[in-house]
Amino acid sequence: MNTLSILFITSFIFLPIFALAQTHTDVLLPKPSFTGKKSVEEAIKARRTVRHFKAKALNLEQLSQILWAAYGVTANGFYKSVPSAGALYPLDIWVAAGKNEVEGLQAGVYHYIPKAHRLTQVKAGELRDDIARASLYQSWMAEAPVILIITGEYERCTRKYGERGIPYTYIEAGHAGQNIFLQAEVLGLGIGIVGAFHNDVVQKVLGIGKVYDPILIMSVGYK
Ligand SMILES: Cc1cc2nc3c(=O)[nH]c(=O)nc-3n(C[C@H](O)[C@H](O)[C@H](O)COP(=O)(O)O)c2cc1C
Repeated sequence: MNTLSILFITSFIFLPIFALAQTHTDVLLPKPSFTGKKSVEEAIKARRTVRHFKAKALNLEQLSQILWAAYGVTANGFYKSVPSAGALYPLDIWVAAGKNEVEGLQAGVYHYIPKAHRLTQVKAGELRDDIARASLYQSWMAEAPVILIITGEYERCTRKYGERGIPYTYIEAGHAGQNIFLQAEVLGLGIGIVGAFHNDVVQKVLGIGKVYDPILIMSVGYK
C-alpha cells in the first residue's frame, strides 16, 4: 500500500472524529472576581428590565462573571450562588452567543458547567433571532450579544420532594435570574427578562433534550 492510499483510508477514520470534536468545543472561562464597583443596595435600586441594547460586543470576563453569579460554585466545590431545596440544583444555564458578539467565543449555544466554570458547545451558529421568534417575536431580545436560557430538570428535585419539586425549581430559577440582574448592574450591563416563549420550540432551537424545560430567558448586553 502506498502513502497516498494510507492517507486516504486514515482520513475516513480520523476526519469524522475530528469533526465531532469540533462541535463540542470547550471554553474555559476566566476566574470570576469576588469584588465589585457597586454596592448590592445600589444594584437593587438601579435594576430594570432592559429592552434595547447597544451594538457592542461583550468579553469573556463579563460573561464569566454573570454565569458565576447565576449558578457558579461558591463553597466546598459544590454549593452554588443560589439557595436550592435539598441542594439538588435542578437548573442548567445555556448561553446563546451571537456572531462576533463575545470576544473569544464562536456563535452558538453553550452549556455552562458550574463545577469546571467552563462552557461546552452544544450547537454552532447564530440563533438569537430564532430564540426571539420562539418568544412570541420579541425581536428586541436578539439585539443583545448574548441570550441566557435557564432550564429546569424537574426530576432532580421531584424524586425527593414529589410535585413540590416543580415550584421549588421555578423558585430557584428566580434566584438565579435576580443574581444575573444584579451582577449585570454592577458590571454596567443591562438585562432583559422573558417568560413568554414556546418551550418546545426553544428546546429545538437550542438543540437540547426534552428533560431541560426552559423557565426563563434573559438577554445580556450594554443598555
Ligand atoms: C417571570 C417573568 C416573565 C417576564 N416576561 C417578560 C416578557 O416576556 N417580555 C417582557 O418584555 N418582559 C417580561 N418580564 C419583565 C416584566 O415586564 C418587568 O419585570 C416588569 O414590567 C417590571 O419592570 P422592571 O423589571 O424594570 O422593574 C417578565 C418578568 C418576569 C419576572
